[in-house]
Amino acid sequence: MTSQIAAHADFDDIRYAQLWEDADVLTDALATKPGATLVSICSAGDNALAMLMLDPARIVVVDLSQAQIECLNLRIGAYRNLDHQSFVELMGSRPSDRRSELLTKALAEAGEATLAFWKAREADVVAYGAGGCGKFERYFRLFKNRVLPLVHSRATIDAIFQPRDRAAREEFVDRRWNNWRWKLMMSLFFSRYAMGRLGRDKAFFDHVEGSVAAHVQRRIRHAAVDCDPSVNPYLYWIMHARHGEHLPMAWRAENFETIRERLERIEIRPGSLEAFVSTGEKADGFNLSDIFEYMSPEVFAEVYGSVLDASNAGARIVYWNMMAPRRVPQAFRDRVITRAEIERDGKAVDKAFFYSDFVVEDVAP
Ligand SMILES: C[S@@+](CC[C@H](N)C(=O)[O-])C[C@H]1O[C@@H](n2cnc3c(N)ncnc32)[C@H](O)[C@@H]1O
Repeated sequence: MTSQIAAHADFDDIRYAQLWEDADVLTDALATKPGATLVSICSAGDNALAMLMLDPARIVVVDLSQAQIECLNLRIGAYRNLDHQSFVELMGSRPSDRRSELLTKALAEAGEATLAFWKAREADVVAYGAGGCGKFERYFRLFKNRVLPLVHSRATIDAIFQPRDRAAREEFVDRRWNNWRWKLMMSLFFSRYAMGRLGRDKAFFDHVEGSVAAHVQRRIRHAAVDCDPSVNPYLYWIMHARHGEHLPMAWRAENFETIRERLERIEIRPGSLEAFVSTGEKADGFNLSDIFEYMSPEVFAEVYGSVLDASNAGARIVYWNMMAPRRVPQAFRDRVITRAEIERDGKAVDKAFFYSDFVVEDVAP
């Protein structure tokens, strides 16, 4: 099976230098028993690494984009060769004046292609951290440096991250944050045209329905009022281009050693999910990111069917939708059980707030 999106989008450079999907929500939903075989889309690699906390026997990591696989290769080198403080400095969570040295150290055992890939990006790593040098992060940086200052003062931006109760959060968003400049900026910056040009490949919007700005506005309200923004590392990075006290799961100090010890369990398979599911191998859990959204409904149904064929009985399939609706296709409803309660719990606390749907489906035993 060939991959539909591969024919349309340009994957030459890093698109996501860090993973903008909440690994806490992902691993809570997957909840596989120790010893499982898991499959994960790579993207920047952080969630495949976080899945090691589930103590699987192995994780097969796939991605169409070699640039994205290089993000995981760098991380693997960084876990092996750096301590935690150095790791978060290299990634850009923390300020650092020694990223060049840390990059060299992290790449000590890297293959030629990985070394060349990252040496060509050294200036960006030094300036923004390895987690800041993708197209998506550039887009957020442009937002933070050029757009946000036109709308809010530094004090108002920092005030988002002061802990307060729900009622006070609601008042902050309604009275202080949602001024007319913010509303105007949202409609301009999140137009399809701007997002397609600056952040996401235009091909990705082929199947998206509704206004991006309205969707983002609703999700920001959820993140800032229903959830507690003061503990949200994704929001913090968007507003500061680095992390505060709170980090994504795979980057936390308390998970560093366990992930390091289990790195051997990661098996990288450059190529599509479609290629993996046609090998005849079977898995107990799948992290499919939001890749279904990038496919037409017909191709989605075909790929979904082959994921079912590559599943052990009771396997769990987890994925997000940003905008386009994707859930078990009609043809496979009798082979799948939707875990509505787990979905609801995940959606309620999802710190990567831009997704409209979170899907958890079990392959019937
Ligand atoms: C779908 S994108 C979404 C990124 C994500 N929302 C994030 O924040 O990182 C994640 C990755 O999926 C890869 N991808 C898309 N379709 C794929 C497919 N059919 N098989 C394997 N990888 C795929 C892309 O190359 C990209 O690196």
